Amino acid sequence: MVAKRIVVIYHSQSGTTRALAEAVTAGIALEPGVSWRLLRAMEAGIEDLRWCDGIIFGTPENLGYLSGGLKDFFDRTYYPAQRYQFNKPYGLFVSAGNDGSGAAAQLQRIVKGYPLKAIAEPLILKGELQPGALQQCRDLGQAVAAGLTLGIF
Ligand SMILES: Cc1cc2nc3c(=O)[nH]c(=O)nc-3n(C[C@H](O)[C@H](O)[C@H](O)COP(=O)(O)O)c2cc1C
Repeated sequence: MVAKRIVVIYHSQSGTTRALAEAVTAGIALEPGVSWRLLRAMEAGIEDLRWCDGIIFGTPENLGYLSGGLKDFFDRTYYPAQRYQFNKPYGLFVSAGNDGSGAAAQLQRIVKGYPLKAIAEPLILKGELQPGALQQCRDLGQAVAAGLTLGIF
């Protein structure tokens, strides 16, 4: 079986999304033979999308929108991605104060243009960082890793 590769691309201003992204990678690590990159959105680029078999995005909701850092990633990669027509599977988690739906909807609309295909409904985590949220992110990482390994996505 060919080892699968996942890139986790996130933006975080005050650290919550970063902690959740690290939990995602802890979940990926539970699946043998899967490698990953954990990247700040402003350091990620088109080569990371080419490298991977699947993507997990993480963003806070800021002012009803996805974070500026992740928007910058999409602004830089949207046109370069057109020639590749990736059609790769992606997962999404949103860290929000009390909503998160705006960020999720906007990201879902943007990635249709790459195109990327959703693995599951967005995981929206509201309020202060809780152990349960970290566990949900570990589960997300493990599920994506296992699904890629098994050829489900
Ligand atoms: C400028 C700003 C705008 C925000 N706007 C929203 C919002 O529209 N909806 C929401 O649910 N939370 C909002 N929040 C709360 C953040 O999404 C939440 O605190 C998140 O966990 C921060 O993630 P981070 O620590 O990774 O930056 C906002 C926070 C900031 C700083």
